[in-house]
Amino acid sequence: MTTIEEPEVRAALPRLNEPAPAFEAVTTHGKLRLADFEGSWLILFSHPADFTPVCTTEFIAFAEIYPELQKRGCELIGLSIDSLYSHIAWVRNIEEKAGVKIPFPVIADLDRKVATAYGMVMPGESKTEASRCVFVIDPKGILRAIIYYPLAVGRNMDEIVRLIDALKTGDEHHVATPANWRPGDKVVMPAPNTTELADERAGEGLECIDWYLCKKSL
Ligand code: BEZ
Repeated sequence: MTTIEEPEVRAALPRLNEPAPAFEAVTTHGKLRLADFEGSWLILFSHPADFTPVCTTEFIAFAEIYPELQKRGCELIGLSIDSLYSHIAWVRNIEEKAGVKIPFPVIADLDRKVATAYGMVMPGESKTEASRCVFVIDPKGILRAIIYYPLAVGRNMDEIVRLIDALKTGDEHHVATPANWRPGDKVVMPAPNTTELADERAGEGLECIDWYLCKKSL
């Protein structure tokens, strides 16, 4: 008898510039909802599993950038498909063995409700663990950036802080940021969308390589 394989049910992935999926979740800091973070930036990140080596290096690194994120009005919340008691034991272990206190809450997503809503599980990598995802949610609850990393590669914390700086700078000054931009570097002006505006560019005292790519200092 031939067996017919069930078609894989693919979760819809969240999309940029749309409201981030609402959640209410059990965390190491008690019950938390997405709405509790309204008014501040939020980084929601997932990790595959507690008590694993790369994840432990990431947790220590996230704890290290937490003060920098807070200076920028940004909160941090972790998630994995592990139990609350596993999370509590792991963060206590990190403090005991590495001397690093984990200051942010961690969601215990055993029923996978949050992981499914955010498309954190990549079955091609692991059917039971969340991949290394980062979701940046703005103070109005809009999803502004998504980073997905595979299980075997730890994330770059400088890039996460840089991403927050770039998003906030873009919002504040209505500009874009070029490759490898760092705070203090020149920013990119939106490209003109009429020939008339393109002609006017020449007189604006900008640093241009051509009409469509002009930079300015803030
Ligand atoms: C780790 O954190 O080391 C890890 C976790 C899941 C899969 C592979 C690596």
